[in-house]
Amino acid sequence: MVTYRSPREWERMREAGRVVARILAGTREAAEPGLPVAELDAVAGRILKEHGATSPFLHYKPSWAPVPYPANICVSVNDVVVHGIPGRRVLKDGDLVSVDCGATLGGYCGDAAVSFFVGTGDESGQRLLDVTRTALERAIAAAVPGNRMGDIANAVERTAREAGYGIMQGCGGHGIGTEMHEDPPVPNVGRAGKGMPLREGLTIAIEPMLHEGGSDEAHTLADGWSIATADGSRAAHFEHTIAITGDGPVILTAL
Ligand code: MF3
Ligand code: CO
Repeated sequence: MVTYRSPREWERMREAGRVVARILAGTREAAEPGLPVAELDAVAGRILKEHGATSPFLHYKPSWAPVPYPANICVSVNDVVVHGIPGRRVLKDGDLVSVDCGATLGGYCGDAAVSFFVGTGDESGQRLLDVTRTALERAIAAAVPGNRMGDIANAVERTAREAGYGIMQGCGGHGIGTEMHEDPPVPNVGRAGKGMPLREGLTIAIEPMLHEGGSDEAHTLADGWSIATADGSRAAHFEHTIAITGDGPVILTAL
């Protein structure tokens, strides 16, 4: 069942979204060579607490997961596309890191992700980051009343394929509001002009995840959560929570 939300509710989601944006900025700032990834989760925990917010990721247990999610945020390094669990892994210069984070505040949720280099980047990885961010921007631009869900999905798919990248299809975007995951699904592949009509009040998370190798294939690692590219190539992930309004899409996970 799809819930359409009021401008007052967008504002509540924006409050949660601001905390998400702070965590993404704070973890990025903290990420440097030599730092154990668990420290990034601690940074997120401190910022959540400071704002009286909680993590909707922590203890989250979808039916496919063997164990509840054990951390505040996901930190996915290099070939890990999504759902990387912060642990003892130590960040290295040149690592391509995706941080995915949610916050619940006052009963409403925000969810967003960014990817970046730890220390020194490389040209090919930078292109992956740029194209994945562009895919998100184009998908957000398509999120207007009168368009359909397939217009969002196709914006991601087209941007990825033109660049020769693979696309994570096992998971994707979603409705969001009082729960982190609500209807409708927001896929990263689809046909323009097809799918659910987009209406004012729909609040969704859009999250392209692109693979540097051309393949869409991915597999779950032994921890039951981390999903890595099958070809070992790197991946990038950008996500925003947005509201579809009569004035166009509004990003709710910005500072
Ligand atoms: N942004 C991811 C998603 O929407 C966050 C889920 S991570 C989990 O699917 F740990 F909560 F599962
Ligand atoms: Co999400």
